[in-house]
Amino acid sequence: MTKNIVTIDGPAASGKSSVSRGLAHRLGWQWVSTGAFYRGLAFVAMKEKVTPEDTAALVTLTTSSLWTVNMDSDQTRVWWRESDVTAEILSEENGLRASHVSQIPEVRTALLQNQRNCALTVSGLVAEGRDCGTVVFPEALLKVYLTASQGERAARRAREQGLNLQATQAQQQARDRQDTTRAAAPLQIPEDARVVDSEGLSLDEVIERIFGWLKP
Ligand code: DC
Repeated sequence: MTKNIVTIDGPAASGKSSVSRGLAHRLGWQWVSTGAFYRGLAFVAMKEKVTPEDTAALVTLTTSSLWTVNMDSDQTRVWWRESDVTAEILSEENGLRASHVSQIPEVRTALLQNQRNCALTVSGLVAEGRDCGTVVFPEALLKVYLTASQGERAARRAREQGLNLQATQAQQQARDRQDTTRAAAPLQIPEDARVVDSEGLSLDEVIERIFGWLKP
């Protein structure tokens, strides 16, 4: 496994994917959204009629050949039954579903190895999510916790997806509450993380700041 790992954790719509994509590009590394594993599983479970209460079936689904997660330079892609369902998994509605299944400790354990495998065949990896610095890659070179105000995050997601601002904000608040209060690997600032509040900073400024911390 490569030693070149940067983790970027943070709440919903804090800009983790955009920052990870840009940073990975700057470094010539790969990047992965670990949320895609939870989003993919939640989506495939819904399509395959596996209920979120059926933990055993969910765990079986984590290793099913019915779906795959692939790292692309533009996006972490999810394929299900030979269709690219990346756009579908990214809806805020599916985000809430993903947050729900991500609370189940057995599901988290089952998906952990798949996430770690992303670091096996690459020269460097930027991994983003909720527990990348605390659980998935605790040995990372650099850990970042990225945040922005609730209002700004909701506005960003509503703008990106053409959604109603108030409904988006309510859904995000519910998801953040679920992600920070769950017992298994809750969203938290890793002890040795650098915190970046992106409020008032451009995407390039955030990427440059993180890049600067990696320079020898
Ligand atoms: O980062 P995201 O919005 O794509 O994540 C979707 C959900 O997946 C998030 O609300 C909680 C869960 N998740 C998680 O529990 N642990 C991770 N490392 C990444 C995501």
